[in-house]
Amino acid sequence: MLRIILIGYMGAGKTTLGRKLAKKLGLSFYDLDWYIEARFRMKIPQIFEEKGEDGFRDLEKRMLHELAEMENVVIACGGGTPCFYDNMEYMNSMGETVFLNADIDAIKGHLKMGKSVRPLIQGKSPEELDIFIRESMKERMPFYQKAKHTVNISLITKNSQIDEYVNQIADLTAD
Ligand code: S3P
Repeated sequence: MLRIILIGYMGAGKTTLGRKLAKKLGLSFYDLDWYIEARFRMKIPQIFEEKGEDGFRDLEKRMLHELAEMENVVIACGGGTPCFYDNMEYMNSMGETVFLNADIDAIKGHLKMGKSVRPLIQGKSPEELDIFIRESMKERMPFYQKAKHTVNISLITKNSQIDEYVNQIADLTAD
């Protein structure tokens, strides 16, 4: 039984790499944000708006527990998931946690490419975004670093890089 849980900052590549990794290993893929949206029939920004961040974190924890009970899965978490409640300890107890440690240029590049709306960074100027990312990364790092495995990620511009990272994660989490 294999259960791989990908964590890391927004734009680190959790969803992109997770989907490919699951395909390679013959596992099912779940993205925690998408799962929350499907279960509650609400988009993430709408949940933030109606329930506040605290309300979102509560749903996120509950849905993490639903997903993490499934077997033979790759789960891509949200960027904040490891940093609330005892989520990080819980994930370590349930599976192979992998921290996608993306550098700031990779994060900014991926966020620019990504189409999904992220309430925490919506409406920020490039300068504000840069400061926000650096500050919140610093706060989140101690949580991310509790993962069992780490893969360093730089800006992904080619499909061959995706395959390389997927292979690295597969090797790290093989038993
Ligand atoms: C968040 C990251 C998002 C989503 C929500 C909050 C965060 O997920 O869960 O907008 O706190 O970093 P992604 O990391 O998939 O963007």
